Amino acid sequence: MSTVTVEQAADLLAAGEIVAFATETVYGLGGDATNDAAVGKIFATKGRPSDHPLIVHVSDAAAVSHFATQVPAFAQRLIDAFWPGPLTVILPRREGVARASAGGQGSVGLRCPAHPLAQALLAACSERGVRGLSAPSANKFGKVSPTTAQHVREEFADEVPVVDGGACEVGIESSIVDCTRGVPVLLRPGILTRQQLEQAMGCKLLSNDEHFEHIQCALDADSALKTEAPRASGTLEAHYAPRAPLRLMNGKMLQTALDVVGAEQVHLAIYARTPLKTASSQVHIRRMPEDARATAQQLFAVLRDFDARGVQLIWVEALPDSGEWDGVRDRLTRASHGV
Ligand code: TXA
Ligand code: MG
Repeated sequence: MSTVTVEQAADLLAAGEIVAFATETVYGLGGDATNDAAVGKIFATKGRPSDHPLIVHVSDAAAVSHFATQVPAFAQRLIDAFWPGPLTVILPRREGVARASAGGQGSVGLRCPAHPLAQALLAACSERGVRGLSAPSANKFGKVSPTTAQHVREEFADEVPVVDGGACEVGIESSIVDCTRGVPVLLRPGILTRQQLEQAMGCKLLSNDEHFEHIQCALDADSALKTEAPRASGTLEAHYAPRAPLRLMNGKMLQTALDVVGAEQVHLAIYARTPLKTASSQVHIRRMPEDARATAQQLFAVLRDFDARGVQLIWVEALPDSGEWDGVRDRLTRASHGV
């Protein structure tokens, strides 16, 4: 796969091709949001079901009205506080615009990325009449998101050109706030904390489950109106998964489990803050930073590295309870699902 410049990428995108590009969160697999054929290529290349909506990336807040009909006051406050940056807002979609990208839903996810190359690319696309880029993370459906151009190459080999912006600074995907339900609902935690989001909005941020319960309470128990909680594919239980089964354990448990393994040649990788001792030469230990941001930044690269080593198992130390770890905890909990 070739590396392309921003100008080359913009030409390709304006011609309906797809291009991977760096953002500050993870690499995206981009295409013109209003070109159904380009959007179809994204779904096909990613192997993603076409009813799972894609985020539309825009160059600034002024582009919102092109895609969305209405911006509630709390959503505007989020945009003002965090754009450009690692935040996606779900808004009511303008009819006839980016329908395929939205997976047919009446809403649209919008994000203005902060990475200078993503900004330059969106500006160059805008000059060519492309108002937004649909871009899911540039990985095969359900896999770990790429945080370097090399990761993108590992996912798609020669299929997709890439705008190489180095290693992503944030490292986990954007926080997603659904702004279509009258109250803000967090669909996916990211590096922005609940506290930061609530402070900017001046109101409480509900979780998807809290909002679901809220609706269910409001409905008659026998009502035919009983609803399914809306889901984002990033909220599927098993997602962001490395190849090797991943298990979360506290530091003490990790050492006990290692003692049980003893000198046996179990091909195992461990990611932990607690210093650990092992007699096995086959155990690969990687120190987790004490800091949530530093951990988020390296998380997906660490999981990819473990897989590349061909380990049979991954053990990860459980994360602190505090809010700044929510995004990392969410990804690791999903990665451990089913183990
Ligand atoms: O940081 C990010 O958000 C990265 C970079 C490339 O910007 N993108 C990303 O996209 O993570 P993706 O497609 O892997 O995850 C997008 C999530 C999915 O869980 C999707 O279901 C949800 O956003 N989403 C997008 N539009 C939506 C909508 N209209 N309603 C509900 N969920 C939506
Ligand atoms: Mg993804």
